[in-house]
Amino acid sequence: MRDLARDLACALVTVSQAYELLSARGRVISRVGKGTFVAPPPQTESPFSRRWEPDVSRFARAQRLDGVMERLTRATHPGAISLATGHPAPETFPLQDFGRAVHRTLLDDPPEAMQYRSSTGDTQLCETLAELLRGRGARAQSNDIIVCSGAQQAADLVATVLLDDRSVVASESPTYSGTLGVFDARGVTYVEVRSDDDGVRVDDVERVFSEYRPRLFYVNPIAQNPTGAVLPARRAKQIVALARRYDVMVLEDQTGWQLTYDAPAPQPLAAFDTDGRVIVMESLSKSIFPALRIGYLYARGAIAEALEVAKVRADVFTSTLTQRALWRFMNSPAYARHLRSSRALYRDRRDAFLDALATYLPWSAVRPPAAGVNVWLPLPPRISTQGAFDACAREGVLVMPAEPFYPTRTGPPALRLSFGHIDAATAREGARRMGAALRDPVEARELNGVVREQDE
Ligand SMILES: Cc1ncc(COP(=O)(O)O)c(C=O)c1O
Repeated sequence: MRDLARDLACALVTVSQAYELLSARGRVISRVGKGTFVAPPPQTESPFSRRWEPDVSRFARAQRLDGVMERLTRATHPGAISLATGHPAPETFPLQDFGRAVHRTLLDDPPEAMQYRSSTGDTQLCETLAELLRGRGARAQSNDIIVCSGAQQAADLVATVLLDDRSVVASESPTYSGTLGVFDARGVTYVEVRSDDDGVRVDDVERVFSEYRPRLFYVNPIAQNPTGAVLPARRAKQIVALARRYDVMVLEDQTGWQLTYDAPAPQPLAAFDTDGRVIVMESLSKSIFPALRIGYLYARGAIAEALEVAKVRADVFTSTLTQRALWRFMNSPAYARHLRSSRALYRDRRDAFLDALATYLPWSAVRPPAAGVNVWLPLPPRISTQGAFDACAREGVLVMPAEPFYPTRTGPPALRLSFGHIDAATAREGARRMGAALRDPVEARELNGVVREQDE
């Protein structure tokens, strides 16, 4: 690789990414300790091949969590504690208040409200969502909003409009695997941007933008999943200026901005956008409940028109019954009450879990999350993610391995631990079991199955 980088006068990392891409596309085969070889040509299709079968290679690319879900299912047993899911706490779901809003919708709205409706969303709900963005400095109008069936659809529409298999996507790393799965399915190439305690590093954003000129930059600035970091407004402003200078579109995932613990959420990148290059997406799954399947996009200009067309093609419009009830709920005193009590519950759970980690994994260097329900646990040198996963499963605690969160699927060994959906005592017991599984890192080197078989 070094020779090739020298011959081509490019960075070693570029050659290494090219190898990864060729490997992901099945053009080369890497053998540990032997090298990388050109793959044999694909077998020519027989004239009787079954043309109705899907192109599995495209689906395989999209299965970021595939092996992981199987491993989690295999390790699940009665009494196991899961720190793996990142789900919100069901006891926060405002079901009675939302039930009343559904009832009122069915009684008070005219029958026409349940007719085929605008594909961009219910006008009043769009206004409520735009108002929240305006309150944070963005110049959002109700007709800049597209209500989507979850943030997952929001990401999918953006990918449909902007990306194909020639696209380069810059992304913070680690980041939310659901969005990466959407981008994977388009066959994009990733360039990773480095982060620190305050989210993505501006100097690295500049390096990546100037060196790779990506089509899109994906960033999850607040309640960053998986790290819980919060990006200060100063950085958001600098990143938007860089996006303008290098002509990069930005997709900022504002999911979780309502769940900050120590201070209100900083302004979104969209607050500093002057020319419509920043698209916002947000899921209400964490701040209200996942069964709503409501998320939205905020976009302006030509891109907004293209997204609207994509939305019509995808599913015509998102359930108006849910949208109208949500509008009622969000404009009732119950909404603020719900957010206040959810934040308090998650803050208590976070503090208790951090305490337990300090007690049972004293070597752990976790950064207390400033928002959200996840903690990122970097593993000590020589403990592999797979080994840690297996050792924890043997002790009856399920954890999320790091790889799905890395855009290129490789990175330093780490685990994501989620504390939001379980009570403090259960999380404490989970941490105790992890402590028993991983013990002291020095001792852990001796543990069967925890040590990496060889240094990669
Ligand atoms: C950062 C982030 N974005 C998007 C989503 C997806 O949300 P939805 O349930 O609306 O598809 C999640 C859910 O975990 C998330 O954490």
